[in-house]
Amino acid sequence: MAALLLGAVLLVAQPHFVPSKPQLPQTIIIGVRKGGTRALLEMLSLHPDVAAAENEVHFFDWEEHYSHGLGWYLSQMPPSRPHQLTVEKTPAYFTSPKVPARVHSVNPAMRLLLILRDPSERVLSDYTQVFYNHLQKHKPYPSIEEFLVRDGRLNVDYKALNRSLYHVHMQNWLRFFPLRRIHIVDGDRLIRDPFPEIQKVERFLRLAPQINASNFYFNKTKGFYCLRDSGRDRCLHESKGRAHPQVDPKLLHKLHEYFHEPNKKFFQLVGRTFDWH
Ligand code: A3P
Repeated sequence: MAALLLGAVLLVAQPHFVPSKPQLPQTIIIGVRKGGTRALLEMLSLHPDVAAAENEVHFFDWEEHYSHGLGWYLSQMPPSRPHQLTVEKTPAYFTSPKVPARVHSVNPAMRLLLILRDPSERVLSDYTQVFYNHLQKHKPYPSIEEFLVRDGRLNVDYKALNRSLYHVHMQNWLRFFPLRRIHIVDGDRLIRDPFPEIQKVERFLRLAPQINASNFYFNKTKGFYCLRDSGRDRCLHESKGRAHPQVDPKLLHKLHEYFHEPNKKFFQLVGRTFDWH
């Protein structure tokens, strides 16, 4: 009996043997759509103390999911050990006005990760994703010019443009969370050189530095960094890192101009600048 008891005590004392069960996330990747959210989640998952939900959960932005309550949210999380940090990513959270208050009501100390890239580039990526969704269903889809231009001017009603107005969405989050709770990952740098960006994320999440430069290697065929984990190599799905449509340089210039002022406002809001057009 005593031996049995001792065995049980020893088992519980070792974090490795503590039974795993789902926990609510302490960290959420809130967006932005096409910012590199999947790459960020996969790279963060290299850390042994991170447990990541595989699918986009859409708890805070989809009424049906939200109405199921926290028990449902918890059931969407992966099993984890107590010392692990649970993370989920739903890129639509960033641009959904009702989400910040809801996240705050669940956990005001939530650590938020926001990955952003050049807003014009993000628009092209957004278009490309929807274009391919249509292609897969054998449905026609207009050219990007047809979305971007109306009556010879930039069509500011194109939804993808609004999603790139980062200062508008950031303001909604800052009404509920102080800036120190929101870590912004530079998505353009994450593409070019992921390791330093991931190190910053480790520090923000107060994780022991466990991810190494050797976890990343550049794959020439893919044209992007891929991951190496315990001798296993993997690149992101083929839907990540697609070629964008060629856009008339004059139109592209208009797009860059359109984001000039909004970008300045965003830089002021977050006290930091980014290398955007
Ligand atoms: P593109 O496909 O337009 O190039 P999200 O996961 O939020 O949808 O973002 C997709 C974007 O992640 C891709 O957009 C790609 O540029 C970027 N990305 C960043 N790092 C990547 C990597 N290592 N492999 C593939 N795509 C990566």
